[in-house]
Amino acid sequence: MQGSANLNIMMKAARKAGRSLVKDFREVENLQVTMKGAGDFVSKADIASEAILREELTGARPTYGWLGEESGAAPGEDPTRRWIVDPLDGTTNFLHGLPHWAVSIALEHKGEIVAGVIFDAAKDEMFFAEKGQGAWMNQSQRLRVSGRSRMIEGLFATGVPFGTMQDLPESLKDLARLMPQCAGVRRWGAAALDLAYVAAGRFDGYWERGIKPWDVAAGIIIVREAGGFVKPIADGDPLLSGAGLIASNSHLAEPFGKTIRDLQA
Ligand code: IPD
Repeated sequence: MQGSANLNIMMKAARKAGRSLVKDFREVENLQVTMKGAGDFVSKADIASEAILREELTGARPTYGWLGEESGAAPGEDPTRRWIVDPLDGTTNFLHGLPHWAVSIALEHKGEIVAGVIFDAAKDEMFFAEKGQGAWMNQSQRLRVSGRSRMIEGLFATGVPFGTMQDLPESLKDLARLMPQCAGVRRWGAAALDLAYVAAGRFDGYWERGIKPWDVAAGIIIVREAGGFVKPIADGDPLLSGAGLIASNSHLAEPFGKTIRDLQA
């Protein structure tokens, strides 16, 4: 697929950051250090990835604003556009030597996500989408959400709380309602890839409470352009409020949505 200039800038930046992370990931696998030592190393890898992304993206588009997991928000001269970036989604996987993590870059224009790139450098899978142009993987593979329409055949992904346990009671209730109705639930530790996999039809749906904008911004447009649904868990919340998000193929949007919202599917 022939992408726009912005999409090409995003993919080039994601590849460059991905190469740096792959190098560091090999080191993590070999590190014979304490957890604290490994943690510090990974946080340096994360910060280095964000620095590469910032240099590439802001270098190419100096007027755009910025929201990054590590460096926070910086308004741009152009108040209508900003990059939303997670330099390493799946940090805990990375730290444990699990090859399931990604770089995630979204472009927001007037409050709407218009392009997204999620690069899984360990598996060399580049997921991307632009508004109105469909969703793709690795240039030539068009992405479509799954066609499953029966909850009982559905495989769902989620994230469960860690650190602060603020959303634990609701997350446990979600699981208790959903698990008897479906084929399985996965918690793989990288929300960007959970959404990319919904777009690719590998998962039938995803939801998570308390999820941050940089974890999901790129995935939102990739799922939508692959024909899927993305909504806030609570009606009326802005999508990137951080409160919670639900995504699925269009057949399951209603029963899955009702189950997570506790509305008697
Ligand atoms: C985390 C991952 C995880 C999700 C967490 C996120 P990070 O992002 O996406 O799957 O459950 O909510 O914070 O910290 O690895 O960038």
